[in-house]
Amino acid sequence: MALEIMDVLDAVKGRRSVTFFEADRTIPDGTLQELLELANLAPSSFNLQPWQVVVVRDPERKKILRRYALDQSKIEEASAVLIVVADPDVKVNLDSMLDSWEELGYIKKASRATITHMVRTRYGPEGSFERKIFAAKNAALFAMSLMLAARGLGLETHAIDGFDERPMKKAFAIPDDKLVPMLIAIGYLRSNAVLLPRAFRRPFEDFVHFEVYGADQAPG
Ligand SMILES: Cc1cc2nc3c(=O)[nH]c(=O)nc-3n(C[C@H](O)[C@H](O)[C@H](O)COP(=O)(O)O)c2cc1C
Repeated sequence: MALEIMDVLDAVKGRRSVTFFEADRTIPDGTLQELLELANLAPSSFNLQPWQVVVVRDPERKKILRRYALDQSKIEEASAVLIVVADPDVKVNLDSMLDSWEELGYIKKASRATITHMVRTRYGPEGSFERKIFAAKNAALFAMSLMLAARGLGLETHAIDGFDERPMKKAFAIPDDKLVPMLIAIGYLRSNAVLLPRAFRRPFEDFVHFEVYGADQAPG
């Protein structure tokens, strides 16, 4: 058990945004599937899992993707680039999720209508900003889980949000109502690559607030 905890800490401490990938090295299909299934264990609001992934491996498709992503060379050098898609439609997995909760005894059948109402109202109406936030935050947790799991499989990653979302979605047949919070380049670290030391992280005191954010203004 202690060893497993150390593995998690190593994954967190050792993850870096890697730019130097071994070009032309492919990720075995089984490894890629395992990685995506591990990431799919990420937590999500009401367990709705509002994410989809487009795996881009074909060199021609990577070339196209690079064109929309500020010409970043890692897009072509990585073994694969994942387009992380966030789905603001809260209904997509709702019934499957409720079926599972009911089957496993989390809820009684009678609660289904209440939960359905909560899910449909909690994140604002269809097309709202709140639904976009719902989708993006959950997809970001999926993405982070994937980046950590990748390390456990000997893979390195690089999150990318430098891209033109609208034309890129069109080029990859991603429906208009979906969001793309980020791409993730994945591959193997080039053997002669030397990473610079990890850059600036703020000290604990600069971002941690105990009990309230602004002590001066807190009422009561
Ligand atoms: C959502 C997100 C988007 C990012 N987009 C880019 C990008 O477009 N290009 C890039 O070179 N790095 C990008 N990065 C990488 C960051 O610059 C990097 O995470 C940061 O400098 C910290 O370095 P580290 O990941 O090695 O700890 C992105 C990171 C995140 C989390």
